[in-house]
Amino acid sequence: MPVQPKIALVTGASSGIGAATARRLAREPGTVLVLVARREDRLAELAASLPCPATWVAVDLTGEDAPTRVLAHVEAHHDRLDLLVNNAGAAWRGTFGETGWANVHRHMELNFDAVVRLTEALLPLLRRSAPSAIVNVASTAGRISRASSGAYSASKFALAGWTDALSLEEAPHGVHVGMVLPGFVPTEGFPQAELRQKALTRLILSSPEKVADAIYEVGPGGRFERYVPRPYALAAYLRILTPRLVRRVLGGGGGSTFTPSTPRR
Ligand SMILES: NC(=O)c1ccc[n+]([C@@H]2O[C@H](COP(=O)([O-])OP(=O)(O)OC[C@H]3O[C@@H](n4cnc5c(N)ncnc54)[C@H](OP(=O)(O)O)[C@@H]3O)[C@@H](O)[C@H]2O)c1
Repeated sequence: MPVQPKIALVTGASSGIGAATARRLAREPGTVLVLVARREDRLAELAASLPCPATWVAVDLTGEDAPTRVLAHVEAHHDRLDLLVNNAGAAWRGTFGETGWANVHRHMELNFDAVVRLTEALLPLLRRSAPSAIVNVASTAGRISRASSGAYSASKFALAGWTDALSLEEAPHGVHVGMVLPGFVPTEGFPQAELRQKALTRLILSSPEKVADAIYEVGPGGRFERYVPRPYALAAYLRILTPRLVRRVLGGGGGSTFTPSTPRR
């Protein structure tokens, strides 16, 4: 019997983790890819280099008509969708005092709203194709916040919270929903220049290929959550168990200079 093709859509496929994910998925026999990002030349180049069939949609995912354009492309080329990898995202550093709501809005628009809108458009097709899967690429910053990354963290905390609920809601429909939370991965949008300078801090860096393996484990592999590298899960646990210690490590001091009249709980 011929192998049923597995149709997988990867957003943010023009560089970094998304491109590595496309290459990882393309190694599996029977995979057919749909690549999504804004830079068409990059998508065309990647599609031509893959060992499996691939088409692409060059679209700004924050655009009003992006979800309908992506859905129309998928339906024009395929009668099913087995895997959606919501990976496209970006970060613009700055404190809230300097960058304000505008920077929070910019992050939410791409890292949260665009994911929710695309998922909404593709969910009926994913349900019809069940068993199918969605992998949302969040971040360790979706569990723990650092100064100057508050807007990015807010968008990834939102994504993580929404993903957990969606996972419970879609299980009865046969759509597995999981999440990957990378730590520091040098890519175009996240060069990690400071960490790459010293031998010691270089040790905590991961690679797009390792994140792609984790995306594969969560999507086709059926896991619910994967930190990359795995020990980063510890940071998330410590944030809950010992918030004062984490605050000290991140440079915020262990407590407030304000002395409340009621004892601290
Ligand atoms: N690298 C890290 O350290 C790290 C850590 C934790 C989480 N992550 C997450 O991993 C994901 C991938 O990031 P990356 O490190 O691979 O960064 P990257 O190399 O900069 O890739 C970002 C991808 O998103 C696409 N994109 C950005 N804005 C878009 C838009 N408006 N519409 C459509 N596509 C858009 C970009 O393509 P175009 O520019 O061609 O549109 C690109 O393909 C992001 O969600 C990021 O938050 C990364």
